[in-house]
Amino acid sequence: MQWIPEYRDDVPRVERFNLLARSTHWIHTVTFLLCLFTGLALFLRADWLAVIFGGFRGAGLVHRIAAVVMTVTILTAMVIGVKGVIAWLKDLLRFGMNDIGFLLKFPAEFLGLKVKIPPQTRFNGGEKMNSMVTPTMVFLLMISGWIIWWPSIWWPGLVRASYWIHDIAMILATIMVSMHAYLGSFHPGSGESFWGMWKGTVRADWAQHHHTIWYDETYGEKAQAEAE
Ligand code: HEM
Repeated sequence: MQWIPEYRDDVPRVERFNLLARSTHWIHTVTFLLCLFTGLALFLRADWLAVIFGGFRGAGLVHRIAAVVMTVTILTAMVIGVKGVIAWLKDLLRFGMNDIGFLLKFPAEFLGLKVKIPPQTRFNGGEKMNSMVTPTMVFLLMISGWIIWWPSIWWPGLVRASYWIHDIAMILATIMVSMHAYLGSFHPGSGESFWGMWKGTVRADWAQHHHTIWYDETYGEKAQAEAE
């Protein structure tokens, strides 16, 4: 493990995430964690956790407030940032041999071994997997959560199934979010990506090394020639 590398503005930097993507990401992070800890207090009937939110009633209230903020933020960002959402989906659909190569070699890199990773697009093979699983789980959490909230308007079987879906999606999303948080901050070599989500830019040399295809297409000679 390492600390997040120093932010350097004395070297060339390139934009990675715009303000809308960054604010949506961080509002989602905060509301997800609030839902997780309040949800765990309810799920485990854990007094020691509920007491932080003023008891079980407080935990239920914080859970609902965070859930509303999360739902409104995600839906608004999807409408305002529809172009970005389409670009992100297009990148996911570019899943190819280079992504399979990434997934095969990543365990060795994760353990600190030196391996040559094939060139990656805007999101590498691991990020593409995370982008498929985590948003799916978050959508399942949102849909099942709204059903649980108003049980009297749905059939009892759907409400019971929604509790199961909510709990299983919570476990899977939490595993994915934990790995994502580590890889996007403290993992040696990938820590620079944190600055992309915090300040919006990453070092150009890091982008060229970690996301060669994306860098060439967006900022490289080919992109510059097309822009002229
Ligand atoms: C829009 C998003 C969400 C909505 C509308 C929602 C709604 C709800 C509601 C109404 C409850 C029942 C609360 C009570 O009994 O007082 C609940 C429970 C719970 N929620 Fe959520 N929630 C959402 C997101 C999340 C997220 C992101 C997580 C975790 C990552 C989560 C984890 C849980 C857990 C673990 C429970 C306890 C379930 C049980 O007792 O079996 N929820 N949620």
